[in-house]
Amino acid sequence: MSAEPQADQPIDALLSRWLPADIARHVSGKPSIAGPLTGEEADTAAAMAPARRIEFAHGRHCARAALAELGAAAASIPVGDHRAPIWPEGFLGSITHCGVVAGALVARRRAYQGLGIDIEQAGTMDRDMARLICTPVELERIDAGNRVNEERRIFACKEALYKCIWPSLRRYVDFQEVDIEIDPMEQRFVARRSARQDDLSRLPQVCGWVGVEGDLIVAAAYLGPDSRS
Ligand SMILES: CC(C)(COP(=O)(O)OP(=O)(O)OC[C@H]1O[C@@H](n2cnc3c(N)ncnc32)[C@H](O)[C@@H]1OP(=O)(O)O)[C@@H](O)C(=O)NCCC(=O)NCCS
Repeated sequence: MSAEPQADQPIDALLSRWLPADIARHVSGKPSIAGPLTGEEADTAAAMAPARRIEFAHGRHCARAALAELGAAAASIPVGDHRAPIWPEGFLGSITHCGVVAGALVARRRAYQGLGIDIEQAGTMDRDMARLICTPVELERIDAGNRVNEERRIFACKEALYKCIWPSLRRYVDFQEVDIEIDPMEQRFVARRSARQDDLSRLPQVCGWVGVEGDLIVAAAYLGPDSRS
């Protein structure tokens, strides 16, 4: 477990309640704390705008801190296909950044098929954007339940899910292909193929979590070694 001061500790506490102990996590609210990028990472970052370079370095900082907790040697985490990070041999993980906060989850590859984390700003989402992110089934549920932050919670779940299932599917998954159902009391989410887009023949069954901490929404997902599709 590790978190850097103040704002990050409540997020770390959520993750510690949700995730098995063999998933290392690191949350940071201080982009300035990020150390230098490795040569390969720095080459990629050279083409980035300054703000993007800062979040990229902050995410790598969290990822390296989580890797270190698992005893991994300091390593480069280059950018792979579809922007997915390339993890050191024997490990896998997930990175997110949202404003000044960044976070990463890392585990040993023999224990997990995938990990996903997403942190989003809480708040309302306009209807046009909600129609892009949410399926008709999700929108019906939102309208019936009238729950605060629901569209953004669904968004965070889908992004965490996407990162988690990327190593298994290795293809783009559209927001309309998946229905998310959230149990806010338990802070759990379930993902199913949407009725509208049933060409997603295999949707791995992740263990998904989502919660609101202050003005941030946090979603996390993991896929164990024996998860059925
Ligand atoms: C990839 C994506 C989820 C990233 O989300 P985001 O809001 O841009 O940003 P976040 O800060 O939460 O996450 C960014 C990090 O995700 C990671 N990431 C990017 N693409 C990834 C992929 N294909 N697989 C796994 N991780 C990925 C990267 O580490 C990235 O940080 P970095 O570029 O600094 O290394 C988003 O840009 C995207 O493409 N979404 C569309 C697909 C989707 O979410 N479908 C939902 C249906 S399940």
